[in-house]
Amino acid sequence: MPPRRSAQWYAGDDRNSYIHRAWMRRGLPADAFDGRTHIAIANTASDLTPCNAHLDEVSRSVAAGIHQAGGIALNLPVMSLGETQVRPTAMLWRNLAAMSIEEMLRANPIDGVVLLGGCDKTIPALLMAAASVDLPAVVVPGGPMLTGTFRGVPLGCGTDVWKLSEEVRAGTLSAAEFQRSESSMIRSRGHCNTMGTASTMGLLAEVLGMTLPGVAGTPAPDSRLLEAAHATGVLAVEMVEKDRRPSTVMTRGSFLNAIVALAAIGGSTNAVVHLLAIAGRLGVELTQDDFDAAGAEVPLLVDLLPAGRFLMDDLYRAGGLHAVLAEVRDLLDPAAITVTGRPLVDHLDGALVYDREVIRSRAEPLLPHAGIAVLYGNLAPDGAVIKPAAASPHLLRHRGPAVVFDSIEDLHARLDDPDLEVTADSVLVLRGCGPKGYPGMPEVSNMPLPAKLLAQGVRDMVRVCDGRMSGTAYGTVVLHVAPEAAAGGPLAKVRTGDMIILDIANRRLDVDIPDAELAARAPSEQAVQAFAAPRRGWERLYTDTVGQANTGADCDFLLGSSGPHVSRESH
Ligand code: FES
Ligand code: MG
Repeated sequence: MPPRRSAQWYAGDDRNSYIHRAWMRRGLPADAFDGRTHIAIANTASDLTPCNAHLDEVSRSVAAGIHQAGGIALNLPVMSLGETQVRPTAMLWRNLAAMSIEEMLRANPIDGVVLLGGCDKTIPALLMAAASVDLPAVVVPGGPMLTGTFRGVPLGCGTDVWKLSEEVRAGTLSAAEFQRSESSMIRSRGHCNTMGTASTMGLLAEVLGMTLPGVAGTPAPDSRLLEAAHATGVLAVEMVEKDRRPSTVMTRGSFLNAIVALAAIGGSTNAVVHLLAIAGRLGVELTQDDFDAAGAEVPLLVDLLPAGRFLMDDLYRAGGLHAVLAEVRDLLDPAAITVTGRPLVDHLDGALVYDREVIRSRAEPLLPHAGIAVLYGNLAPDGAVIKPAAASPHLLRHRGPAVVFDSIEDLHARLDDPDLEVTADSVLVLRGCGPKGYPGMPEVSNMPLPAKLLAQGVRDMVRVCDGRMSGTAYGTVVLHVAPEAAAGGPLAKVRTGDMIILDIANRRLDVDIPDAELAARAPSEQAVQAFAAPRRGWERLYTDTVGQANTGADCDFLLGSSGPHVSRESH
């Protein structure tokens, strides 16, 4: 067995090893420092990240497993991001969280790490960090909430907030009843129970090979999550012994498997930027085009909100992720291994579907093609994405005049103006919402429709934006347009009245203006003014260095890995 990394702090009898040991004794026996495996539990539990608040309990089960395997467990609270609370958008802080976690893992005397996440940005940030340190690492996804019911029917987190608030506007639900539904919607600990970003990234962490097989999707309050957490602690010690690192687990094959799974589960478009960012840390060659090439033809098999009917609790009951993956087993890379050292596909043997309403068969999918389409054109030279399965069939090919908004404030100020010149054929364009623009690439691309069109019964319109969209939303929304307006993309040059052409079959997004004329046009002054470059702090570092959506919106100085090297002495 090679000497432990932590031994570089603890071994020996000199003054420095004394200092490192003495402060860590806290009642531990002397043999805790005799070359044992020291495992950090990177814990995103926080009262301000309610979706992850239960992870302290999960951490105790992980610690018990680590101790059982002869290791030393070290709780390491790390930067946490609560999707519903953090402003202007949790995405602005994803790279900062990843950076701070990476640095603390490297700076400390640890040999491996168990990563505890749940809410949208937490698992991506943890995986980015682990990839850049490349110490043995394994994720325990915190799991979804239990299904809450209100007036006898299930409520889906996020998705049903919009529905209920519309009912209040329509007068069919009182404000008091609306308020009473709050605790019904968030019935238990855990993350959102729709197929939003948290559910998607928890499941994809497993498809990438980074969890104990079978754990992803286990509801947060379920005893089986604690059992899996305990087993993960045991596994983490074994992974250090076998030197099984993120770079050996997350290969190009693993990412292509994740793209297949993303389509089959009907996952969030946010997974595109997160998977690209994680791959960028590992140096794995992965492009936005891979999502179209590997995922576009994959059928939708899981009937969950927002696109379908059920919730995460139902998916788990119906057989869970393995039952879904077994249906698309032939599309998965059989060589891609997991943290167990065995291929992902080996763990699918014996997976059964217990409810065919929730998990469809390959022969009877919900939709034949569920993946993400990547569009190019003079409006998106570096690409834009759309989920055709979430779009209205009559809008898949569309030509209509642009109604342009320079910022989210501009949109809110004018959208419901009865004098706004807009019809169902118009294309709503919102710019200034990319990584640099907002800053942080918020989830605003699924713009609300103008009130007067809603009143006419219009339920979907083509929308084009350089931002992201909540995993709990859907519609004919072209998002992640790159380059974004604030980075000088052509989106900044579009004017109200310009004809926009969307052609999903041919993967095109264009403004119907000759290229020379578009090139000669100056960007809209309002669009330029709406982007106020931050003067200091993280926002400045972020806007100065952030890449575009098509490469994962990571900061340029964070790409790649620095490995687990041990720095010089601290005293
Ligand atoms: Fe945390 Fe939805 S708000 S997962
Ligand atoms: Mg979100």
